[in-house]
Amino acid sequence: MINTVISPALATSMDATLLAGRDLEAEINQLRRKRNAVILAHYYQEGEIQDLADFVGDSLDLSRKAAATKADVILFCGVRFMAEVAKIVAPDRTVLLPDGLAGCSLEESCWPEPFKHFRDQHPDHIAVTYINCSAEVKALSDVIVTSSNAEAIIRQLPEDEPILFAPDRHLGAYLQRKTGRKMTLWPGTCIVHEQFSEHELIKLKAQHPGALVASHPECPEGILLHSDFVGSTSAILNFVNQSDAREFIIGTEQHIIHQMESHLKKAGAPAKIFHPLPGADGSCSCSRCPFMAMNTMEKIYLALLNNAPRIEFPEPLRLAALKPLERMLEMSKGIGVMPKN
Ligand code: 13P
Ligand code: SF4
Repeated sequence: MINTVISPALATSMDATLLAGRDLEAEINQLRRKRNAVILAHYYQEGEIQDLADFVGDSLDLSRKAAATKADVILFCGVRFMAEVAKIVAPDRTVLLPDGLAGCSLEESCWPEPFKHFRDQHPDHIAVTYINCSAEVKALSDVIVTSSNAEAIIRQLPEDEPILFAPDRHLGAYLQRKTGRKMTLWPGTCIVHEQFSEHELIKLKAQHPGALVASHPECPEGILLHSDFVGSTSAILNFVNQSDAREFIIGTEQHIIHQMESHLKKAGAPAKIFHPLPGADGSCSCSRCPFMAMNTMEKIYLALLNNAPRIEFPEPLRLAALKPLERMLEMSKGIGVMPKN
């Protein structure tokens, strides 16, 4: 059972339809000032939401930003596990998630009870768990990792200690290959990265022979084998920003391309060409995360207006989930850069 309390009742889509024709950006700006709110957004949010945010980043950047903020309210434009992390590390702030039902397929693949059973079956293993999971699963883990710091954290673990890795089996397999560590993997996947097609990637590379391929480690091995760069969303962004190449195939959720284009525009640099990686049918619709897409401008406005949906936890659960998160923050000091946006 998931113990996160989303309170009070969720803003409904009916509320949202009543807002047609309003200048939502202006109204959100008024409300964020009134409530002393900071808006944090992940790179997979719609472009207009990224542009509205005070800070856009990957999971590690956003958890650090939440821990450091002085704002009274954190409006988290991302998915539920990200907003939960913000509440765990910043319990005295109000944390709002525009759509309380914005989940994640990895979180849904790994319920606390079966995860506890998995742990109980491997009592001598250390549980290294990807941040894309519920607070309950975090509370049952030894250390949390993100795609930015997983490799570095695993390299700090004693070599004779066997590892359980959950919930993303592709990220786990990638980390096994990178570190040479033997790991027992939970069989979860991300519905976005899982659908990318190796066949379509090969076709796309043949059509654009100068394009570099940058992919997220949640992709299956077949995709990573054809990639010039593999890393977290922030790392992919840095790779593209710093590369002299003019054309890229992007093996992650396609809204990150908005941030790539914004960076070029701000720097006054010449445009680059970005191709989202397609799925098996050759369409690129699969490179949109349906959970991230649940947040909209209307729901952001309503969340600030109603002070809901709010993330709240029973304190014992928060404290139990905080422990492996603090271990992560401690073990990843100096890893990743806090983008200055
Ligand atoms: P990052 O931490 O790399 O931003 O990844 C988050 C995520 O959900 C990837 O699908
Ligand atoms: Fe979860 Fe995948 Fe969406 Fe990331 S892109 S939030 S891993 S479903």
